[in-house]
Amino acid sequence: MKLGLPKESHAGESRVAIIPANVTRLLKNNLHVLVESGAGSNAGFTDEDYVQAGATIVSREQVLSDADIITVVNAKDEQLAELSAAIKPQQIVIGMMDPLAHPENAQAIAATGATAIALELVPRITRAQSMDILSSMATIAGYKAVLLAAHKAPRLFPMMMTAAGTLKPARAFIMGVGVAGLQACATAKRLGAVVEAYDIRPAAREQIISVGAKPVELDLEAENTETKGGYAAEQSDDFLKRQQQAMANVLAQQDIVITTAAIPGRKAPILITKEMVDGMKAGTIIVDLAAETGGNCELTELDKEVVYNGVTILGPSNVPGSAANHASQMYGTNIENLLKLLVNKDGELNLDFDDEIVKDTVVAHQGEVTSARLRDLLGLPTLEVNEPSASADDSNTTSEAK
Ligand code: NAI
Repeated sequence: MKLGLPKESHAGESRVAIIPANVTRLLKNNLHVLVESGAGSNAGFTDEDYVQAGATIVSREQVLSDADIITVVNAKDEQLAELSAAIKPQQIVIGMMDPLAHPENAQAIAATGATAIALELVPRITRAQSMDILSSMATIAGYKAVLLAAHKAPRLFPMMMTAAGTLKPARAFIMGVGVAGLQACATAKRLGAVVEAYDIRPAAREQIISVGAKPVELDLEAENTETKGGYAAEQSDDFLKRQQQAMANVLAQQDIVITTAAIPGRKAPILITKEMVDGMKAGTIIVDLAAETGGNCELTELDKEVVYNGVTILGPSNVPGSAANHASQMYGTNIENLLKLLVNKDGELNLDFDDEIVKDTVVAHQGEVTSARLRDLLGLPTLEVNEPSASADDSNTTSEAK
């Protein structure tokens, strides 16, 4: 079986989906990797590195036509359009496709007859942790957000007692303490800041303390803070208003604010309004990690540095891509672990739809959008359960509606 690794054509993308270390390990599973020349160059991996690991360097056309499984970082926008035009029904595409916000991406692959695996839908179960790209990328984003803030800040993070006087430590506030927020707490703490943090989920309190930060209690009653899948539940406008009022005092004391609050498939909640920024100190830096989904601050503009009343608001996109080497290492290992579930030791495809991970992540198969969640979002009728289909190229491939 052949795994294809095209060079990312998505604008500004420097990560690569598989690194040479993955190639060597996948070979042991009889998966041979076809790499487009230059695929890893922006992440620090040369063609020579891939060849030494056991891959074959080929043209983009060959990757797209000869691979049984094609893996990318971005299966969306122009790159998805290109893939959809090139792929055949027996091929499998694995990548990030923003399925909840853009279910039409799964539909585009379904229209080709090929199989699509959306990595964002890896379930939050212990067995799938090693395949969870959202956690991997959030780890990097949380770390980098603090460095971006430190770079921009007019103050240093640690307390310093110098011959020229004592410098007070910076105060950092992390809003939204999932994977990215927790990493931001830990990074800001390591740099010497006094760190406080807030999350809507009560379970986050203990985690905040575990990384040496102080939880901020707002004395607000939120209902249903967590979904069954471990994600935050969307809150009412009334709750968000009360949250904003209580938060204004906390924000007024900060030097650094990192926001990470996200609701899967939805616009990010506004945690910081313009009025709240009015009450903040000049020189405060806000890094809004939710900028790509609309931002947690009302003033955030994607990929712009907004300065308002002396407060600087950064809304960077693709923060994990700014640490492309490590981000690719984590992404590649997540993909490798997923592939070991999909392909047996003899290099044969085994799509077992009774497996929760396969069932949740396969969003298109044999011409249909197979994910019940996405069918619902697209307004498509529920799929009947299919028997294993003889039309699939591989006889091990079965199909089932969720
Ligand atoms: P996320 O990226 O979806 O959201 C970031 C954070 O924003 C969440 O903690 C969320 O509660 C918070 N948030 C949402 N609305 C908010 C509001 N109005 N005010 C304040 N905070 C708000 O979250 P992420 O990083 O995916 O993690 C969510 C939880 O899932 C964490 O407890 C994490 O440890 C857990 N998790 C479990 C995994 C597993 O069991 N395999 C894998 C990854 C995460």
